[in-house]
Amino acid sequence: MNDISSNTKLQNPTSVNSTNKESNENLFLIGFMGAGKSTIARYLKEKAGFDLIEMDSQIEQDTNMKISEIFDQFGEEHFRKLETDLISEISPNQGYVISCGGGVAMSQVNVKAMKKAGKVILLNARPETIYERVKDNHDRPLLENNKTVEYITQLIEKRRPYYLAAADQIVETDNKDVEMICQEILKI
Ligand code: S3P
Repeated sequence: MNDISSNTKLQNPTSVNSTNKESNENLFLIGFMGAGKSTIARYLKEKAGFDLIEMDSQIEQDTNMKISEIFDQFGEEHFRKLETDLISEISPNQGYVISCGGGVAMSQVNVKAMKKAGKVILLNARPETIYERVKDNHDRPLLENNKTVEYITQLIEKRRPYYLAAADQIVETDNKDVEMICQEILKI
């Protein structure tokens, strides 16, 4: 499989149509941890000219703390508030691609703000794919002691109704390379 987390080199990047950037819409990429939101967002910035916000990185920069430190010291609820504050800060802007944290679409306040400010695109991947992508990573507190396909499957199932309710477009990412995924997104 041409895995999106390892394949950011594209054969024909100029073929990507930049309609959405030209129309100045924001694109909010949602989906489970490891679904490929950051990779796809970086590509949309590089090749289609979107400005990029990677929510986790932005929160880390704003707080000068790692996400895991925020969870440890202040708890998940506090982290969720930081996410909601950031979504409302981003919303008045245009022409951004926003790589959302995997929990952002669980909040109706966030979903309402995202839908008002742009298009919400759900990236889906199989639990096995997610597992392979997250298994060696230690920056995700919710998975830190739960790195099994079974746990990931359960959490995805719990979240699925929220992801589906938030999404304006659903993109299946398994067995597709970055370019294919981005072309699907840009042809909304
Ligand atoms: C989370 C996903 C993470 C990060 C935090 C919580 C979640 O972001 O925001 O660890 O609740 O799904 P990524 O989806 O970018 O890994």
